[in-house]
Formats: sequence, C-alpha cells, structure tokens
Amino acid sequence: MHRPLVVGTGIAGLWTAWRLASEGHHVLLATKATLQDSNTAWAQGGIAVALSAGDSPALHAADTIAASDGLADPIAVDVLVTEGPERVRELLELGASFDRSPDGTLRFGLEAAHSRPRIIHAAGDRTGAALIETLSRVVRADPRITIMERHLVRRIVKHEHRVVGVILQDEEGEALAFQAPAVVLATGGVGQLFEVTTNPPVATGDGWALAHAVGAELALLEFLQFHPTALSLAGVNPAPLLTEALRGAGAWLVDGTGHRFVFDSDDRGELAPRDIVARAVGIRAFRKDAFLDARHVDNVINRFPGVSALLEPLGLALDRDLLPVAPAMHYAMGGIRTDLAGRSTVAGLWAVGECANTGVHGANRLASNSLLEGLVFADRAGREIAREFAGGFPAPASLSPAPTDSDTGADGSAPALALIARMRSILTQEVGVVRTEPGLAEAEIALADLLARAPSGAWHTADQLRVAALIARAARGRRESRGGHRRADFPRPRPWSSE
Ligand code: FUM
Repeated sequence: MHRPLVVGTGIAGLWTAWRLASEGHHVLLATKATLQDSNTAWAQGGIAVALSAGDSPALHAADTIAASDGLADPIAVDVLVTEGPERVRELLELGASFDRSPDGTLRFGLEAAHSRPRIIHAAGDRTGAALIETLSRVVRADPRITIMERHLVRRIVKHEHRVVGVILQDEEGEALAFQAPAVVLATGGVGQLFEVTTNPPVATGDGWALAHAVGAELALLEFLQFHPTALSLAGVNPAPLLTEALRGAGAWLVDGTGHRFVFDSDDRGELAPRDIVARAVGIRAFRKDAFLDARHVDNVINRFPGVSALLEPLGLALDRDLLPVAPAMHYAMGGIRTDLAGRSTVAGLWAVGECANTGVHGANRLASNSLLEGLVFADRAGREIAREFAGGFPAPASLSPAPTDSDTGADGSAPALALIARMRSILTQEVGVVRTEPGLAEAEIALADLLARAPSGAWHTADQLRVAALIARAARGRRESRGGHRRADFPRPRPWSSE
C-alpha cells in the first residue's frame, strides 16, 4: 500500500478522495470515527453559491470580501465563487438533492451579510447530513477508495524534508505505519477545545497539531467564529445550533422585554455579520437575557425539521417557545496555510476544508461559505495531486511505528481529562468572544502549565493543549479588533493591517 492518504471525512475529505479516484488514483481515506462524524454532517446552514437569477460570482465575491474585514485574499475568493457553481452542478450529478421551489428550480435562502438569497439547502436544515449521505454512498461504491474508519493519525512522518507517510492507531490502539506520497489533512475544526461549541466531539484540532509538529505554517489562528445562536442549556456539549437560516426566515433576537437588541449596535439587526450579532448576544447571554423568537415565522416547524427534532426531547418548540441563546465556538477561519491547490508549506502535506487557511475567509467567514470552500479547494487539491504524480510516485520510504506510538490509555485517565476540562474553560473565558491583554497573558501561562503536567503517553491531550496555546498566542499577538477577533483593549482595526 503506497498511495495518497486523506485524513477526515467531512465534505472536503470525501470530495478529495473522490476526485483523486476519478483521476485514476487509488486512495486511502481514514477517519478517527465514522463517515457520519464530522462538522459537515451537522451543518444546518447550506451552501452559498451564485446560481440564482440576478446573482453573480462578482456579487458573491463582494459579500465574501466585505465579511472578511479586510483580510480575505481576493484571488482565493475569486476561485471560490467562480468554481463554486460548477462544483455544485457536479454534486447534483452525483445525486445530491437540494430543496426546490414548486416550479422545480433550486430554492435560494438568505443568511446574514449576503446581499441576496443564495444559500441552497437539502432537506430543510439538514444539508450536511444529506451531503454526507450522498458522498458516503459515492466513496463507498468506488473500488479505488479504501476506507478505514476508527483509525487515528498518531503522527506524520517526514524524510528529507518531505512527508512520506503516517503512523496510524487502529481501533485497539495498535500503531501501524502507512507510506503515502501525499497526505491530505481534512480534519475539520477546533471547537471542542472550548467549553461551549456547536462542533461535534471529533473536532479537537488534530490537523493543526499534526501539521505544526512537522513544521507546517499555521496562519490567522486568532480568527474564530462564535455562532450567535446556540441553544443555551447548562452543561450541554455540544450546544445545539439554532441555524442562522431561522433569522434569514424572519426570526428575531430579543431580550426578556421583547426588545430586538441587535438593532442597538447595527442597522441590519439580526442579519448583521456574525461577529457583530455574537457580541450583542454575548453581552445579554451573560445575564441569561438573550432569546431567539421564531414563533411568528410561517410554517416554522416544517421548514426547520432538524432544529425541531433537536428541541423536541428538551421540551421546546420553535412555534411555541422563546429559546435561550448564547454564542458558541463554531468555526475557525485560520489554519494550515495553503496555496490555491491545497499545498501546505511542507512538501507532501496538503490541507483542505476547515483545518486549512486558503485565504477565502480572512478575519470572518461569510455564512454558508464553508461547505463551498470544502468542495472547491478539495477539488483543486485532488486534481493537483493527480497532476503532480502523473508520472508515478516517488519510491516509498521505509517507516515503522515506535513503541510509544501505541495507545497507552493515558488520554482517558482522570488527570488528562481534568487538564482538558481546564483548557476548555480557559479558552472560553480568556480567548472567547471578547479578549484582553491580561486575560490572554494569563491564558498563555496557564496553558503552558497544563502542558507541563500532561501525563506521560497522553499525546492527544498534549496535542490539544499545544493547539490551545497556539490560539492564545496568536490572539495575544494581534493588537487590534477585526472580524472574529475582538480585543476590548484594542477596539479598532489597525489601519495598515491588510496583510
Ligand atoms: O447557522 C448556520 O446554519 C450555520 C451556517 C454556517 O456556519 O455556515
């Protein structure tokens, strides 16, 4: 077995594997859980794509760049919006079924900071699950794709400055070596490093830790997006998401008196960019005085079956109850720096999807651009790897696991779990919606202390602590407020900061 390896099975991982296979390559697709476990599978929002009458890639680009607060790369954005429509057409050809109007045309919804309705959904608010169902069927049916569920990447192996493979842990924790001429990280986000998150339990920042360990450059880690409307119930992890499409459909954000408070900070009210809404909600949520009111939204239960199903066991209903909300860590704009074909700064290592920093989001992601980014840049990575190895793979390097590569159980021990709990609390308090110099300095010191106390063999715990420290350091280093990064002590953007 010597073939490209794709790690992670959200939309970006599945699409990369499929594209590589369709270009004639055999590929190994590994996930530490199952094909059903990813941020994509949980996505309620849809795919933003310039396909509706009156819309255009140029308009989509303008909205994306405006949301990015000065830091998006216009060339990457142009790639996103111009190649997006073709990728969505391919998804349709593969059997994905998006919601349609009575006349049979695609139905386009509105979300915050989009200048027109351009979000397509599948099964109402179950877009992600529907996409995973389609793409899982496609990859499972392709004989060139070997799927290894419940296989965790323990570490990436480099030889003479080039990635040559990985050490995996199987379901029993046994280590095994896998030679790969290209390793594509599609490991998703970092939400589980925070106490309150919409991300599933698998979102522990693994890709960032793996890439950092082999010297790949990570960029813009301070830019985290906090979703304004997670259902706020004490101790519930992950926090159930109340999709932004609810606000697009007319739901309000109100305090206990019924006042629509977001208008106090922005004329666009509930449809202002996500960071603005998150801060407005955050201030009231602290006093438990922020609610989503969707009771007046026409046909709300049928239009939002996924949210309704989440609420029902909790005794809540969209058409009956005011829903308590709070901001929750939702999406990482930064990540493993890549070029426009998904190449990281280390030869043989690629990154796609949320774990990558392609340049399209800048300081703040426009709602529903992430599934599109996953498709577009995974496609480019798959094609580019196929092109790079059209003449054959380099000779495989020999690699074998070290005795320390097998699972010792230390990550599940009480001391390791306590360190993770403490890390989550520190990040939420000091590296959350609003940050300050003293808080960030304290976070850096505390996280370094936790890392020093990681039990021997608890490598996954240590990896998470390292990623947490990288985020805190990046946030401390950016002495301005921009996009998803808000410093109480530096409340404005630096005028010269268009890096
Ligand atoms: O609110 C949502 O459904 C989230 C969408 C997104 O993160 O793009």
